[in-house]
Amino acid sequence: MWLHANKIFLPMKIVKSHENSTKKIIFLNSTSNYSKDDKKNNVKSDGDLNYSKVSSYKKSTLSFLDSSYLSKINNLQKSDDKSWFDVTKITLEAFNFLSEVNHDSTITYQKFYNKLWNILNELHILTKDLNQQSLKKEQLFFRGSLFNLLNQSLVLSRALTKPYGYPGDFVMLQTLYDNKPISNTKLGCYLDQFFLDDELARAVVNRVEVMGNRVIQFINNSEKDELNILNIASGSGFELKKIVNANFNKKVIYHCFDQEVASLSYIAQHSQDKNPNVEVRLYKEDIRTFFRNWKSEQKFDFIYNIGLADYLPNIIMSSLVKESLENLNPQGIFVLAHKDYTLFPYHHPSWLYDWNFIHRDLEQYKDLLRTTTDKPFSVWFESDKKIVYFSEFNKSVTTNDRKNN
Ligand SMILES: C[S@@+](CC[C@H](N)C(=O)[O-])C[C@H]1O[C@@H](n2cnc3c(N)ncnc32)[C@H](O)[C@@H]1O
Repeated sequence: MWLHANKIFLPMKIVKSHENSTKKIIFLNSTSNYSKDDKKNNVKSDGDLNYSKVSSYKKSTLSFLDSSYLSKINNLQKSDDKSWFDVTKITLEAFNFLSEVNHDSTITYQKFYNKLWNILNELHILTKDLNQQSLKKEQLFFRGSLFNLLNQSLVLSRALTKPYGYPGDFVMLQTLYDNKPISNTKLGCYLDQFFLDDELARAVVNRVEVMGNRVIQFINNSEKDELNILNIASGSGFELKKIVNANFNKKVIYHCFDQEVASLSYIAQHSQDKNPNVEVRLYKEDIRTFFRNWKSEQKFDFIYNIGLADYLPNIIMSSLVKESLENLNPQGIFVLAHKDYTLFPYHHPSWLYDWNFIHRDLEQYKDLLRTTTDKPFSVWFESDKKIVYFSEFNKSVTTNDRKNN
């Protein structure tokens, strides 16, 4: 499989682990077959940096860190010395490179992209066997050391600081959909662009496009004169903009709920009252309580969610699926989107801005759905990369109608 990054091609292999048969990714750089041991040997034989130099760099960097950050690091378990050394060395390399980009106007975005991609790749390979605590510690060190540089990117800074308290708030997502760097410096704009060019970001943009098309198709194909559609955790309602601009001659009541009032205000500004056939109703609600608080007899013809399932533990995701199916009209459709973490470099968001998704590949996702309900479902994708999968349930189809999902 080939991972397309702008104009270069980076080979990406997916291998099966024998022990547990879950898929693992090995990222390779574009010129050589990369082996973890070779790389470690390179680090060891590098004469410029010895252990004590790296060690004193680490200590001096730590002393500049904010004290709460430092205590967070100290409270985490000490990782093994080898990765401690290697991560520090690569962090120093990243620090020097990003500082250089800051001052050298001749460094192109393509060079920046390749270098940062390789740095993150090396960090991922060096630390992939660490336990969660030790990995967190190394990541905190990396981000803390580069804080003033990474922070030049308004996009990365928002992603990391999480002003609403969770990753991927509607402003963040809308920045992604707008697809433009927004920072004030060259380095900041390069980092913004790196975020926007990531495989994950492209898949997330495709996801809303594809979902919008599916809803429009459903509206056009339905024989009903009036339809009730429910958008769970609607965010900035990107796909809704597309829907209110579409032409259809039936009444659509579009119910959107989200825990964030500001995101609902954004929808009110951009999508409400834009099409006489579409009535947008907004609710401030939590997924854990929405259906419980839904006092109306009104059921829905189409329910969907994009962008939340990857953060939901199994128990909450299962109840979301069950409640959505219960609240469908007889011919109703329920669609739930999810990302396959094995198909994009999930360590980029993890190292750069501490975004971590629940890891479910397609089979694990299907298994969870099968243990939640005996209703059959079909699966479709955001593009031929298949990073985001959509499971689609039709209330009127039973297991006997469709034996194989
Ligand atoms: C990743 S965004 C996706 C938004 C939108 N569906 C999209 O694809 O652009 C996740 C959204 O879920 C909302 N959210 C997170 N946790 C929630 C919860 N427990 N209940 C309701 N909404 C929640 C956030 O406010 C945010 O708008």
